[in-house]
Amino acid sequence: MSYKACLFDLDGVLVDTAIYHFQAWKKLGENFNYQLTEEQNEQLKGISRVESLNRILAWANFSATAEQKETWLIEKNTIYLDLISNMNPNEILPGVIDFLVQIKAEGYKIALGSASKNAEIILEKTNLLPWFDLIIDGNKVTKSKPDPEVFLKGAEGLGVSASECIVFEDAQAGVEAAKAGGMKAIGIGEDTVLGRADKVIPNFVGIFSADLLKF
Ligand code: BG6
Ligand code: MG
Repeated sequence: MSYKACLFDLDGVLVDTAIYHFQAWKKLGENFNYQLTEEQNEQLKGISRVESLNRILAWANFSATAEQKETWLIEKNTIYLDLISNMNPNEILPGVIDFLVQIKAEGYKIALGSASKNAEIILEKTNLLPWFDLIIDGNKVTKSKPDPEVFLKGAEGLGVSASECIVFEDAQAGVEAAKAGGMKAIGIGEDTVLGRADKVIPNFVGIFSADLLKF
């Protein structure tokens, strides 16, 4: 086996939190009369909280003070935490557990590479935490995807080289981050959105890891 580690994004790959982020940003946008569209939300996937707010304010053509931004970042997260408060293992995306069972049995190291500062809460609520050898989340990085920092820290922490890693991502920025880090990228979602990935699958349902992880 030439690949030794699988690095997973969280939101939209393992669990369906992308919809909660969208709902929370839409609600926050009411503060400055802005209606976020689904297309715009797509561009926010994988992007940190603060950078997401900056982009939304730029789209809205709204110049906020630093204090306002700080308040809105807290407000967005409060709305988001409320939305995810009842998350449970049923919200793990279809096929994910079967896939984790396979790669664990095959000896891959498993890490999380997420921009979210709420990653551990979500992994706990969904009982996914025990699957991970290492968690790199938004609290451990300074640069947002498409910078490769989150995945490079994952490789380093697992003690493998970047070229031995395969990244699973649902966001354009995440695929770019994996490629910038010199890793293989498997897109989860639509080919039209994730064209830069080495492979794209719609989801993990019925996926046979020995086939998928062959490059
Ligand atoms: C990423 C999501 O995983 O985490 C983004 O795709 C989100 O939409 C980012 O903004 C940061 O998340 P959080 O939980 O720290 O606000
Ligand atoms: Mg994601």
